[in-house]
Amino acid sequence: MPGEMELIVVVGCFKRRNNPYMMIPAELLQRFAAAKSVTVLTGAGVSAESGVPTFRDAQTGLWAKFSPEELATPRAFRRNPRLVWEWYDWRRKLVAGAKPNPAHLALVEMQNLFLRFHLITQNVDGLHQRAGSRNVIELHGNITRTKCSEEGTIISSWNDTGDAPPKCPACGGLLRPDVVWFEEPMPEPEMRQAMTGSTHCDVFFSIGTSTVVYPAAALPLEALQSGATVVEINPQPTPFTAQAHFALARAAGIVLPELMKALKALRAF
Ligand code: APR
Repeated sequence: MPGEMELIVVVGCFKRRNNPYMMIPAELLQRFAAAKSVTVLTGAGVSAESGVPTFRDAQTGLWAKFSPEELATPRAFRRNPRLVWEWYDWRRKLVAGAKPNPAHLALVEMQNLFLRFHLITQNVDGLHQRAGSRNVIELHGNITRTKCSEEGTIISSWNDTGDAPPKCPACGGLLRPDVVWFEEPMPEPEMRQAMTGSTHCDVFFSIGTSTVVYPAAALPLEALQSGATVVEINPQPTPFTAQAHFALARAAGIVLPELMKALKALRAF
């Protein structure tokens, strides 16, 4: 690992020669290579290239007439538990058939290259873990887990009587996905870890998130106020874009592998 002065010289060479990693600003590469601690926040955009639709994209087919806000709330579940269960069942099957994409894989590489690394996700699809990421901080739960809506206990098997939703084998309460719905509190340990990761890093990446759903949307700002270099990767502008030090307006599955290639080339120089 080169020292800071060497890095400046090497990045200078990258600038002067025909930089093969044109989409990665040299200044960003320099700060990334010098980082001791890196934190990443991901949203639905990271899974878009795996074929999992983002939340604020129009939903398709059967679900086109519903917005997530109408389906992902305790009120919606009380009003129509079957509808909510079936929506999650559809998404669960979609996720089961999806594969991690180059963005997920590049984040595994990133974790392997930094001693202090936090991966915070708003995604409930488990694709980071399937790609090989470790200690993923899941802010909104995981769609592959099911819990009792009465007792909150995780339930891994139940009697399939054809009911939708099925019933808890222990108490008869309705089963629901183990995800955080709108209007529900965030899980405290995950939120604490996410705050620590965001306020104690040299470089923070906000990737594939519209940064509109709080409290996750506040994390890039926390990182910024704590002195981190903040990078956004998103083909579309977000309310945070203007504040990011670097905003790379390309798909995560293109930018992240390039970024990792550039970092490895720089370290090997
Ligand atoms: N690479 C990077 N970003 C992408 C890509 C891509 N290939 N494709 C789409 N995006 C961006 C979109 O431009 C958008 O800004 O991903 C973002 C997805 O935004 P949302 O659908 O709002 O998803 P997210 O920010 O994760 O939503 C937050 O809201 O509905 C709730 O609980 C749900 O966790 C979710 C939360």
